[in-house]
Amino acid sequence: MADLRARFAGIELRNPFLLASGIWGESGESLKGAYEAGAGGVVTKSIGSAPRPGYPNPTIETYERFGFLNAMGLPNPGIEEYPREIAVARAAGVPVIGSVFGADADEFAKLAERMVPTGICAVELNLSCPHAEGFGSEIGQDPAEVEAVTKAVVRAVRIPVIAKLTPNTADIVELARAAERGGAAAVSAINTVRALAIDVRLRRPTLSHGLGGLSGSAIKPIGLACVWQISESVKIPVIGVGGIQTAEDALEYLMAGASAVEIGTAVAFEGIGVFGRLVADLSRLLDELGIPAAADAVGAAHHVAARSG
Ligand SMILES: Cc1cc2nc3c(=O)[nH]c(=O)nc-3n(C[C@H](O)[C@H](O)[C@H](O)COP(=O)(O)O)c2cc1C
Repeated sequence: MADLRARFAGIELRNPFLLASGIWGESGESLKGAYEAGAGGVVTKSIGSAPRPGYPNPTIETYERFGFLNAMGLPNPGIEEYPREIAVARAAGVPVIGSVFGADADEFAKLAERMVPTGICAVELNLSCPHAEGFGSEIGQDPAEVEAVTKAVVRAVRIPVIAKLTPNTADIVELARAAERGGAAAVSAINTVRALAIDVRLRRPTLSHGLGGLSGSAIKPIGLACVWQISESVKIPVIGVGGIQTAEDALEYLMAGASAVEIGTAVAFEGIGVFGRLVADLSRLLDELGIPAAADAVGAAHHVAARSG
C-alpha cells in the first residue's frame, strides 16, 4: 500500500488532501466532518477583522457541469467569533490551517496573531480573492504588497505562513518570488479565475456583484500551469488547488510540483465523502504506477520533461 503522507513547511499530514478555504469550513463541526471523512487537514474560511454578510444574492451559480462562478464577498463571522469554531476542530485533533484576509499588512498580522492561540498549524493569507474591493487580489496582484504582507505576518507569528496567490495577474511567478522574499514557508495556487456570465434576458450579469471567480474542472489546467511554473522558480513548497475532482487530477498536481492539494468545488458538488474516495483512489493509483509514496511523485513530471527536452 502506497504511503500517502505529505510533509511540507514543517507540517505533517496523513495524506495530501486539504479542504480548501471557503467551502464547507463554516463551522467547527463541518471542519471536523471533513477530517473524519478522510481529509489530511482543513483550511478555514477566510476570516477578517469584523463580521461581513457578503454580497446580496445571487452570489454563486453553477458553471457548465462541474464548476462555480462566485462572488460571495467574503462573508464571515469575524475574528471575535470564529476561533470558537476552530477550537471544536482542534479538540478533535484536526490539523487546521487558518485563513485570514485584511486590507493591509498590519491587519493581516493582527488577524494571524489572534488565530495562533487556537492551535492552527499554519496560517494561509488570502491575497487572491478576485471579487472583494480593497482585499484579496486587489492587494495580491502587487508583488510589493505580497512581500510586505507576508513579511509582517512572518514577524508576528511563529507558525508557517502560506501565501495564497491569484492567477489574475500577468506573472504569478513574480508573486511567488515576492512571498518567498517575505519569508513565506509555502505558497498555495490558485484562487479562482476572474470570470463573468451575463443573463441575456435580464441584460445584466448573473451575479449581483457582476464579476466573479471561476472554480472547478475548467480551471485545472490553469492551476497546474501555475504550480508548474512556481515550483521551477522558488525553493519553498507549493500547495496546488484548482479543479481537482479525481485522484488522477491530484497526482497531476503532485507531479507538477505540489506537495499537497486543496479541494474546494468538488466538495460542494459531491459532499465530504469526496475525501474518502480521493484517498482510496490515490492509494490504488500509486500502487498501479509502482510509486511507493505520494511524496515520491512531487515534481516527478519536471524530471521527465527535463530528460526529454
Ligand atoms: C464558494 C466559494 C467560496 C470561496 N471562498 C474562499 C475564501 O473565503 N478564501 C479563499 O482563500 N478562497 C476561497 N475560495 C477559493 C477556493 O479556496 C479555491 O482556491 C478555488 O475554488 C479553486 O479550487 P476548486 O476548483 O477546487 O474549487 C472560494 C471558492 C468558492 C467556490
